[in-house]
Amino acid sequence: MSQYKLLESPIRINKMWLKNRIVFPPINECQSNENGAPTEAMCAYYAERAKGGASLLTVGSTTITPESRNHGAQGQMSDPKYVPPYSHLVDWIHRYGAKASIELNHFGAEASIRGSKPNPSSSNVCARDARYIQEMSLEDIKEMQAQYVQAVVWAKKAGFDAVTFHAAHGNIMPQFFSTLYNKRTDWYGGSLANRCRFAREIVEASRKAVGPNYPLIMRISGDEYITGGRTLEETVEVCRIMEKAGIDCFDVSGGLQATYMYSIMPGNLPGIDGFMMPSAKAIKEAVHVPVIGAGGIRTPERGEQLIADGYADMISYGRAQIVDPMFAKKAFSDNAEDIRPCLSCLYCFQRTGMDQFLACAVNPEAGREFMFRDVKPAEKKKKVLVVGAGPAGCTAAITLKKRGHEVELIDKNEYIGGSIYAAGIPQHKEPMHKLCGWYEKQLKDMGIPYALGKAYEPAMSENYDVVMDAVGASYARFIKGSSGEGVMTAIEALTHPEKVGEKVVVIGGGNTGCEVAEYFGAREINFTTHRMKNFEMEMEIEVEKDESEHNREVTIVEMMPSLCAEREGFSRRLLMKQLELNGVRQMLSTKVRQVLPGIVEVIDMKAGDLVELPYDTVILAGGMKPEGLEVAKGTEHVKIGDASFPSTIANATFSAYCAAAEI
Ligand SMILES: Cc1cc2nc3c(=O)[nH]c(=O)nc-3n(C[C@H](O)[C@H](O)[C@H](O)COP(=O)(O)OP(=O)(O)OC[C@H]3O[C@@H](n4cnc5c(N)ncnc54)[C@H](O)[C@@H]3O)c2cc1C
Ligand SMILES: Cc1cc2nc3c(=O)[nH]c(=O)nc-3n(C[C@H](O)[C@H](O)[C@H](O)COP(=O)(O)O)c2cc1C
Ligand code: SF4
Repeated sequence: MSQYKLLESPIRINKMWLKNRIVFPPINECQSNENGAPTEAMCAYYAERAKGGASLLTVGSTTITPESRNHGAQGQMSDPKYVPPYSHLVDWIHRYGAKASIELNHFGAEASIRGSKPNPSSSNVCARDARYIQEMSLEDIKEMQAQYVQAVVWAKKAGFDAVTFHAAHGNIMPQFFSTLYNKRTDWYGGSLANRCRFAREIVEASRKAVGPNYPLIMRISGDEYITGGRTLEETVEVCRIMEKAGIDCFDVSGGLQATYMYSIMPGNLPGIDGFMMPSAKAIKEAVHVPVIGAGGIRTPERGEQLIADGYADMISYGRAQIVDPMFAKKAFSDNAEDIRPCLSCLYCFQRTGMDQFLACAVNPEAGREFMFRDVKPAEKKKKVLVVGAGPAGCTAAITLKKRGHEVELIDKNEYIGGSIYAAGIPQHKEPMHKLCGWYEKQLKDMGIPYALGKAYEPAMSENYDVVMDAVGASYARFIKGSSGEGVMTAIEALTHPEKVGEKVVVIGGGNTGCEVAEYFGAREINFTTHRMKNFEMEMEIEVEKDESEHNREVTIVEMMPSLCAEREGFSRRLLMKQLELNGVRQMLSTKVRQVLPGIVEVIDMKAGDLVELPYDTVILAGGMKPEGLEVAKGTEHVKIGDASFPSTIANATFSAYCAAAEI
């Protein structure tokens, strides 16, 4: 047994034994086909996580009717035709000794893909657009309850070891629980007992249909994190009622559609580690069945401690197992320091939000297990020099070495990580530094020679079959005067903050520019938020003093009409709030004309006015251009990451992996 004795110990949900306490929560991976059936890619994705040692995997939100969808590729259990393809998925999970559950759901009012009929709900209330909601009649209620029970029966028939009712995140069941949605005056509204009736009847009928031994799990939001929404106190009562109706385990999450930011927690949400654990604890103390605690847990140490402290019986590791499917195996073989860190960047969520299949910024294989199943050891061993130890170079070196090539890595910097080293300096970005450390450990453990502080010379390439060009991009100084004194790049500014003066002008309001502005902004204040005021997602915030030494007067200049539009929505919302609180001046639709000593001349593109911005330091945070290496004739030259196309970590790791897989 490993040092994580509690996490590694078996547990029983009804008659289902789980081999340990690490679960993989429902995560909509958008890998179903257009009809809602699982694909081979989806099977491979779950199989990999089962192989990694988790005891219970729950297939993400799967709808009980074809009309209720939030994604084009939303899985369905709305017809017996889904039994065979799901039984295939179950076999893949069972193959590696894990148990399989499926999260059954109806989005009710909050289905974002509109069908031919209005979305049904308890009442005519919705965070999106109430015009398209139809209050359910008693007949509608009976019909949907029957669909739910039918889906449970089909899931059992497909071989699922359990089902999970999705009663979290403001979907149909909580639309009945919550007075925020439920304005009914009949048997399904009013008192808490009445508001629980819809779900209770489904649970009771399901229990009858599947027998006493089949595990029924309920995923529930402890707190809806919205003014006027359901609070933890009331949820505890809901859980008591649901336990009596036949629920065998509660999987405690939080939030609803308008407050989904708190359900999936971007890295810059203050206090994400264990954010929802107080809810799990309160429910655990009130019921007699096991409780799963979810949200922001990233290490086995933390999970072990939470179980020891009575917060939960099992720990849900979501993104931690997207980025590293071998999480449980590594934890239980005392190799926890080998677990690949999650950045909590929500690129995975951003992808599914765009209706693309789930992928991960750091782990290029996540979601692409099927696509990369043919990546095998190389037929011919080659000598490869990787230049640049950023995410692209490190991913390439690791992949090449795994495939049997002889690899060496150099970087002119004294540290591993490339741009993500600087990116990890602002607050909430510490996981970037964890990733730098992880890369370094992999290089050492795999025996990949690497030299830091060593710049590339073209003559070096003569000794290699291949040069992987992972040197990143540099800031194009095409603005007149941008090579002058007092002008620094974002990386220089972050790594040498002592050189940054009082008045700062940041040129470029993308992700980097905004984070640099936040870092140097007038940070006398910081904030925490645990709740929204309304469906418009207006945050309730608590402002606190930040004793940080940074306290500059910062202006961002951006040509586009908005700041970092490419960034994932929830983390962007938080970043914008911090910029506002920091008093960072935002000049949008504004073009830099030239940088003069002490003055940046900008043009307001709407009004056409010329404005002079005094500065002590100008920070360049946009306009990257790739730098090419010169390589000897006869040596293969492969460009990856920002060196081929200045972009993001996701692009760097994906392009590096793809290239390394072909050598
Ligand atoms: C402040 C900041 C914040 C960012 N935040 C995010 C974010 O939140 N999310 C995101 O997705 N992306 C972010 N990015 C962008 C992201 O860091 C890059 O897209 C990514 O690091 C590119 O990886 P890469 O390996 O291609 O290049 P880099 O990470 O730039 O690495 C290139 C490496 O090559 C080395 N090198 C260059 N020339 C030579 C040479 N001649 N000899 C030897 N070595 C050389 C450099 O020293 C460097 O270590 C951020 C960037 C910055 C600057
Ligand atoms: C891409 C993505 C999709 C998700 N889809 C679902 C879902 O279908 N059903 C659900 O109950 N929760 C869903 N969640 C929430 C996760 O199950 C989990 O509770 C959340 O990510 C917080 O835990 P973590 O920090 O361990 O990832 C999703 C989260 C992400 C990032
Ligand atoms: S995309 Fe980002 S948040 Fe999602 S699993 Fe990967 S590193 Fe974590």
